[in-house]
Amino acid sequence: MQTFDLVVVGAGAAGLFCAGIAGQRGLKVLLIDHAEKVAEKIRISGGGRCNFTNRDAGPANFLSENPNFCRSALARYSSQDFIALVQKHGIAFHEKHKGQLFCDDSAEQIIRMLLAECEAGGVTRWQPCTVQDVRDAADGGFELDTTRGPVKAARLVVATGGLSIPKIGASDWGLRLARRLGHAIVEPRPALVPLTFDAADWAPFAALSGLSLPVVVSTGKGKTAGRFVEDLLLTHRGLSGPAILQISSFWTEGQSLQIDLAPEVDLAEKLREAKAQSRRQLGNELAELFPQRLAQAWLERLKIDGTRAMPECKDKDLQTLAEQLQRWQLTPNGSEGWRKAEVMRGGVDTRELSSQTMESKRRPGLYFIGEVVDVTGWLGGYNFQWAWASAAACARSL
Ligand code: FDA
Repeated sequence: MQTFDLVVVGAGAAGLFCAGIAGQRGLKVLLIDHAEKVAEKIRISGGGRCNFTNRDAGPANFLSENPNFCRSALARYSSQDFIALVQKHGIAFHEKHKGQLFCDDSAEQIIRMLLAECEAGGVTRWQPCTVQDVRDAADGGFELDTTRGPVKAARLVVATGGLSIPKIGASDWGLRLARRLGHAIVEPRPALVPLTFDAADWAPFAALSGLSLPVVVSTGKGKTAGRFVEDLLLTHRGLSGPAILQISSFWTEGQSLQIDLAPEVDLAEKLREAKAQSRRQLGNELAELFPQRLAQAWLERLKIDGTRAMPECKDKDLQTLAEQLQRWQLTPNGSEGWRKAEVMRGGVDTRELSSQTMESKRRPGLYFIGEVVDVTGWLGGYNFQWAWASAAACARSL
C-alpha cells in the first residue's frame, strides 16, 4: 500500500490548485481523477479563453445558505493573488466586461500553469483512476481502494466539483461521500443555465430566436431576490444570455421573472412625448428603441395597430405597450438542466465545514473545496475565484 500525506480527489480547478500548494509546502500529495483528460471544465470555460477570475470578486457575488462562509477564504486569497500568479507565468490576459478577466490566447494556458505548479510541488497524478472505496484507517487517516491499487493518507480533500455537464466527468461522488459521513447537503440545482417555457406560452416568441438586447431582469423577494442589468438572448425554447444565466441562480420552480426590455427609459413618457410631437407610425417609433422584430411581435401580441400615426394612437394602447415592455412578467417551466448548466447551486452544507480551512467538523482530516461546497458564484469568473480561494485556504492550513 502506498502512503501519502494527502490525497486530493478531483483534478479540476480546485483540486489542481490545492495539490500544487500543498506539494510546494512539502507534503507528499496524490491527485486522482477519473476522467481521461485533466481539467476539462477549465478547457471549455469562457468560450475557450477561461474567465479565470473577477477583479472585483467579493462575498456579495456568491450564493449560499450560509452567505458569510466564503468571506474568510476570499479575503485571504483574492483575485489579485491569482492575477499575480497568472502574471508570474507570463500569461497575457484582458478585461472584457465588469471586471471579468480572460486569457488572450487560450484556457489551456491556465491548465498548463496549474500543472506546472503541481510539478513544482512533486505532486503524483493518477488519471484516469477511480476511487472504489474510502475507509477509516486505524491511525485516524484514510484508506482508499483505487483502480491503481490501495493508498493510505492522513488527509483527504474532496474536489470533485458540481453536477453540470456529466459527459465531461461530473459526478456526485463527493456529495455521496459527504452524505455517508453524516454531512447535510443543500439540494443541488442547475445554475447559470438557460430557462425554458411551455411550448404554447413560448410560441409567440419562438420566431424571435437569436435576438439579443440589454434588459433589467429580476426575481424573488427580500434576501433571496436577484436583479441584473445584462444582455438577454431569445432562443427557440426560451431565454438565455448573461441576464438569464445570472437570474437562473436565484430562480426557483413556480417563481416568475420580471423583465424590463427598455432599461433606463421611461417608455410611457417617451410614447406620450412622441404622440404630441411625432407624425411617424407607432411601429417605427418603437423600432427606435427596440429591435424591429421585437417591436413588431409585441404589437401583434397586444393586437395594437403599428401602422397608426402617433397622434392617432389611443392613450390606453400606449400605456399597455409601455407596461408590457417594461414589466414583462413570465414564469419559466424549468431550465435546460445539468447538460447546459455552467455550475451547480447547493452542495455540501457549509455549516459543517470550517470557513478557515474547509475541514469537516464531522470527520477531522477530511476537506471539501470548490464547487462541491454550497458556495455558488455569479457568472463572470467568480466560480473559479472560489475554486482558487477555497483550495488555498485548505492547502495553506495543512
Ligand atoms: P471541476 O469541475 O473543475 O473539477 C472536478 C474534477 O473532479 C473533474 O476533473 C472531474 O473529472 C473530477 N471528478 C468528478 N467525479 C470524480 C470521481 N468520482 N472520481 C475522480 N474524479 C472525479 N467559471 C468561471 O469562473 N469562469 C468561467 O469562464 C467559467 N466557464 C464555464 C463554462 C462552462 C461550459 C462550465 C460548465 C463551467 C464554467 N465555469 C466557469 C464554472 C467552473 O468551471 C467551475 O465552477 C469550476 O471548474 C469548479 O472547480 P472544481 O475544481 O470545484 O470542479
